[in-house]
This record gives sequence, C-alpha cells and structure tokens, in this order.
Amino acid sequence: MIEARNIHKSYNDLHVLKGVDLHIPKGEIVSIVGASGAGKTTLLQILGTLEKPDTKTDSVLNVNEVDVYALNSKELAKFRNDNIGFIFQFHQLLPEFTALENICIPAFIGNRPKPETEKRAKELLGFLGLSARANHKPAEMSGGEQQRVAVARSLINNPGVIFADEPSGNLDSESAGNLHKLFFDLREEFGQTFVIVTHNEELADMADKKLTMVDGKIV
Ligand SMILES: Nc1ncnc2c1ncn2[C@@H]1O[C@H](COP(=O)(O)OP(=O)(O)OP(=O)(O)O)[C@@H](O)[C@H]1O
Ligand SMILES: [Mg+2]
Repeated sequence: MIEARNIHKSYNDLHVLKGVDLHIPKGEIVSIVGASGAGKTTLLQILGTLEKPDTKTDSVLNVNEVDVYALNSKELAKFRNDNIGFIFQFHQLLPEFTALENICIPAFIGNRPKPETEKRAKELLGFLGLSARANHKPAEMSGGEQQRVAVARSLINNPGVIFADEPSGNLDSESAGNLHKLFFDLREEFGQTFVIVTHNEELADMADKKLTMVDGKIV
C-alpha cells in the first residue's frame, strides 16, 4: 500500500515534481508512463525512499501503513530493506558475484541467516526458471536472465512493494513479454504491489492502473 500526497521535488531552480498525489492499494500493479524528463524516475526514487521530497512543502508518504518521514535514517534504512524492492533498467548486479550470491545480498544486509536465505534464493531461482544458472556470474548470463536475477534479488526479503524503473527497457520483445508476465505471476503468488515505470505501451496497458506523468504531475 502506498499513499503519497503533495510530493514536490526541485533540483536547484528546476521544479521537477509539482505536487504528486497517489494512492496504490496492496496487491495492485500500477504503471507510470510519460515523456522523457517528466519526472518518473524522480518520483519512483521518492516513493521508494531513496530520495526525499522538498522539505518546504507538507509531503506525506505512507508505505505499508508506515509514515516513512517519521523514521530516522537508521530506521528508514531498515524499513527500506525489509519492505521495498527495486528493479532497475540496467540490472545493477555485482559482476564478481554469482546469481545466487547477488540474490542473497539484500538479506545479508538485513542480517538474515545464511542457510535460510540461500534456501529462499534457490526457491526464487527455481520460480524464475534459473536453477541451472545459480553459479553463473552476470557476464555468463543473457540479458533476460540477468534481469530475472535482479527480480529475484528484489524479492529475497519478501518486500510488500516493488518499484521497477524501465525493467524491460534493455530486453528484446520476447524477454520483455516474459518479464512482464512474471510480474503478474509474482503478484498472484506473493501478493506484492508493483509500481512500474515503462515506455512499453503493452506492459503499461496490462497494469491494473496506468498513470501518466506530464511535466511533474500525474494527469
Ligand atoms: N540529480 C539531478 N540533478 C539535477 N536535475 C536532475 C537530477 N535528476 C533528474 N534531474 C532532472 O529532472 C527532470 C526529471 O528527471 P527524471 O529522471 O525523473 O525523468 P524521467 O521521467 O525518468 O525521464 P526518462 O524517461 O528519460 O527516464 C529532468 O529534466 C532531469 O534532467
Ligand atoms: Mg527515468
């Protein structure tokens, strides 16, 4: 569940977000579309608590019933690790680690025990059709496989909310289609909320709700 009100963001004198309000119920898949520079990535980073909105405005952000701006920075880091998953356009896997190790990293950051984490990571690899790639490093996998590893990594801590920024922007249309179908399968299986920024009209239209950003606002 995400509740955001009056989100403004400026970079110096560039007013990027001009008062965004949104409400996304648990288990919903929402897409965000809009022209380059409209503020989509900026909004996703604020909703994902990686960035803060301008302080001079009264912004509200509740994620899974928690008022995130009431948390101190240590509490916020823990909240983010436990509740929020990210998938980026470029998977951002660590090149020197295997698929299995990459998937486990957010759990180790959260001090979760190794045996239980690896068991869960292997289940996710199986669910994503990647069991045979567990010990491959990113350079030894295809783009679609790397992106599925990044999806597994975003899921390892069972976050309630997943943010994806152009997750299929780098994939051929078949891999993109498979990835998109996967988001719906995951929602069925684990009940997560997904917020997906995309230029892919087909994916955008598959979502339960499609939001369009124009010039720093949702229209
Ligand atoms: N750290 C920053 N410092 C200054 N300006 C920034 C910064 N990050 C983003 N911007 C500016 O804010 C505006 C919105 O950027 P943002 O990345 O949110 O757009 P976007 O909608 O995700 O675009 P795209 O579809 O190209 O990814 C752009 O004009 C961009 O140049
Ligand atoms: Mg962007």
